[in-house]
Amino acid sequence: MNWQSDLLKNLAWSDTIINLEGKQKVADAIAAKVKDGDILGVGSGSTVYVALLAIAKRIKEEQLTIKAIPTSIEISLFCSKLGIPLTTLYENKPDWLFDGADEVDPKHSLIKGRGGAMFKEKLLISSSPVNYIIIDDSKQVKKLGTNFPVPIEVFPAALLHVEDELRKIGATSLLIRPAKGKDGPIITENGNMVLDAHFDDIDDDMEIKIKSITGVIESGLFINYNVDILMA
Ligand code: 5RP
Repeated sequence: MNWQSDLLKNLAWSDTIINLEGKQKVADAIAAKVKDGDILGVGSGSTVYVALLAIAKRIKEEQLTIKAIPTSIEISLFCSKLGIPLTTLYENKPDWLFDGADEVDPKHSLIKGRGGAMFKEKLLISSSPVNYIIIDDSKQVKKLGTNFPVPIEVFPAALLHVEDELRKIGATSLLIRPAKGKDGPIITENGNMVLDAHFDDIDDDMEIKIKSITGVIESGLFINYNVDILMA
């Protein structure tokens, strides 16, 4: 397990790996679901990394042939490093998917996107028949927006327009997400910016209201998606 711990330490997400022991248990539960020949959708975040390590161990021990559809470049690199073959959404549909979340409410609606990968995460979740969301109990909230803002990926030239429209639908504060360790905004893999938006109230229509603003690529709100929650 040493090389795996070293690998985890070097990842951008490593500072967020809390409750590793709990995540390990749920990661093993995810790995146990893998069947030979599966096409797996792979989300982003530290919990996903731990699950990938457990899956890679099973692949190696049992000589399984699976393929992964990743949701970020970082996850693609990690899969390659672990010897997990990659495929794409235009070649294959996932049989099932696993991903993490930042908040989960009692109806299993989610806030995701602390890693800024919510566009591909949503695309994959929408294309997959079975979706496991792996969380620990710190992610459970009574009301979405309790601990995290809603991340919104915005086409840069549309920033001011999107900010105005978000205020009209109830955004109380808007922060352009800064790049880590350097000046300027974070730029997503799609070349866009991320606005972190706070709302006093997030109703069931909020995802659609945000998405209908011209210039919004996607938001991290996942209201009423088909997900199974697995708790660490
Ligand atoms: C990235 C995500 C992650 O799944 C979410 O931030 C949870 O991450 P972690 O498993 O590290 O707590 O949505 O865009």
